[in-house]
Amino acid sequence: MVATTPFVLAAASIIGLSQATPLEPRAVSYKTYKGDGTVAKGWPNTSDWASFDTIWDVNIPQSAGACKWLGLTPNSDAENTVMKAAIKQAASDSGLDARFILAAVVQESAMCVRVKTSYSATQGYRNPGLLQCFNGDHTCNDVDAGVPQLVPCPDAQIKGMITDGVGLTTSDGLKQTVARSGASDVSKYYKGALLYNSGVMPESGNLGQGRSNPCYSSDIANRLMGWVADSSPCDRSTVGN
Ligand SMILES: *[C@@H]1O[C@H](CO)[C@@H](O)[C@H](O)[C@H]1NC(C)=O
Repeated sequence: MVATTPFVLAAASIIGLSQATPLEPRAVSYKTYKGDGTVAKGWPNTSDWASFDTIWDVNIPQSAGACKWLGLTPNSDAENTVMKAAIKQAASDSGLDARFILAAVVQESAMCVRVKTSYSATQGYRNPGLLQCFNGDHTCNDVDAGVPQLVPCPDAQIKGMITDGVGLTTSDGLKQTVARSGASDVSKYYKGALLYNSGVMPESGNLGQGRSNPCYSSDIANRLMGWVADSSPCDRSTVGN
């Protein structure tokens, strides 16, 4: 949520210098999406999104380097298997598209199961776990809460970090923010992403004017299209124009 995004993006921009080019089943270049998140305004429909497996396969090789850069032990294959199943289960239990949950995990934590809890600078909220959710209970690395970096990260924590962020075990997760968007077309996901990151919809309805990271919804849309990279080329100062 709010406090993490700069952290992940900052981390990612360094990783990019040393990582090989991503796998390229789609080789998607970044497109800055502007406006209200609707197909009419040029945002991708669900039928345009990459498959779950493509999004997984292009991002998982990047995850290990991202975790290392963050000073974290990279995920094991066993942890990744649990995370993938947890995302699919949470999708089925929430009614959200599994690809959307996966894109949010990539955006929030680079898929590192041992991601640290972040704290919002102004309000002091805790944002733990794979989805850096609002005050969830699950984490595999929160020294201030008495949880050292856990290797391995127990299955119950991995599942819990996903259900916390999706809103199945918390009350302000992706499920709730997507519902709060009030939309039923694909824009519900892009609006829900803005609400997850920024808390409130800008009065204009322009998703490039989110108060936390104005590029957040555009980044999510690009990840859903199969774009993978470390730093977003989206310009925070013009995305809302
Ligand atoms: C988007 O895709 C959905 C599901 O396939 C479809 O019902 C809807 O008409 C599409 N929207 C637009 C604007 O093309």
